[in-house]
Amino acid sequence: MPMTPGSFVRSPADARTGAPDAPRISIRNLTKTFRRAGDGGTVVPVDNVSLDVAGHEMVVLLGPSGCGKTTLLRCVAGLEVPEAGEILINDEIVFSSARGILVPPEKRQVSMVFQSYALWPHMTLFENVAYPLRARGVGGAEVQSRVMAALETVGLGALAQQYPGRISGGQQQRVALARAVVSGTGVVLFDEPLSNVDAKVREQLRLEILRMQRMLGFSALYVTHDQAEAMALADRIAVLDDGRIEQIAPPETVYDRPVSRYVGSFIGSANIWPGRVQAAADGCVAVESAVGALALDWAAAAGEGTALPAAGAALTILTRPEQITLAPARPAGGENAWPCTVETRLFLGSHTEYIARLGEERVRVWMARGARIEEGSNAWLSIAADAFRIIRDK
Ligand SMILES: Nc1ncnc2c1ncn2[C@@H]1O[C@H](COP(=O)(O)OP(=O)(O)O)[C@@H](O)[C@H]1O
Ligand SMILES: [Mg+2]
Repeated sequence: MPMTPGSFVRSPADARTGAPDAPRISIRNLTKTFRRAGDGGTVVPVDNVSLDVAGHEMVVLLGPSGCGKTTLLRCVAGLEVPEAGEILINDEIVFSSARGILVPPEKRQVSMVFQSYALWPHMTLFENVAYPLRARGVGGAEVQSRVMAALETVGLGALAQQYPGRISGGQQQRVALARAVVSGTGVVLFDEPLSNVDAKVREQLRLEILRMQRMLGFSALYVTHDQAEAMALADRIAVLDDGRIEQIAPPETVYDRPVSRYVGSFIGSANIWPGRVQAAADGCVAVESAVGALALDWAAAAGEGTALPAAGAALTILTRPEQITLAPARPAGGENAWPCTVETRLFLGSHTEYIARLGEERVRVWMARGARIEEGSNAWLSIAADAFRIIRDK
């Protein structure tokens, strides 16, 4: 296959099925367990996971260390053997417990980019990128043209004869990417490729990955524990908790409509309060909460078309710090406004974070730059009726 930008978009699978939008990776009810060393108990890092990655799509697996991200990725690559479920790559079944199929890693139409980039230090950039082609039995002139095209694509054609130790971290990442896409499978797995670099370089490199992914059009399953990285890169984020997908949705949805306390507090910053329904009528629900009586717009809080809750029902309410207003005086209107004391004020450049004390509760508020409210002063907190979300609390 000629190596031109976008050439990964069409795989042999597409030619076969005539379905360019067929999922590139399909994971069905996948389970992988390990026996724990020591006490002999079991861990289930992949617990009945189902997930699709579409053509050109970047799906980010996000979760804390130990939640099973690497194990899931390794199952797709063929480096771990799951107990149950099914995996398809480019429409080919590479694992099926029911059908007894297990395709070895080197025969799977996918490549992987690791945390360390895993470049061979004793090989030139050319030879590093050529490696997977040679491993697949591609030879001679074809290796030459495909490797050079891949290196040109990532802007490193002139450095083909250089060694990895002599180039920058960003350039190493590009070599790793060139090596990942040179086989033309169109499916790339990333395991925390940016976790070894410092914050400033990380931001630069993640832009670079995004630019490359847009240009080359590959599909990706990208693992990270960094929520900002997930938000920046993902078409969809799959939030993992202990081997299970807690929520899978575009970044905006995961941020604006987290389904649970876990998702809401893992992504972004959140105020979460228990409450009890006092009354519900006309789309408006009155709640007695940890911060006092409040009125919430039910369609905004629970989603359009959700039935009103019964009086007495227990709820968990989430609101983001940037949706709360802190003012020196009582705001006009008066609904959802409470007197508070400003306990802490943190100037963060783009905005100021306040911790306001409301009885026993500490509320986090982010305000754009403007009138400064001093620590220790009395102030008013207010929240619009449509700025609350109802979440699952577990
Ligand atoms: N080869 C293994 N043997 C036993 N337990 C393992 C093995 N690999 C991973 N685990 C366990 O599986 C869980 C998930 O690990 P991992 O997939 O590496 O998580 P993450 O990449 O999200 O940090 C952890 O509890 C880890 O200790
Ligand atoms: Mg990991």
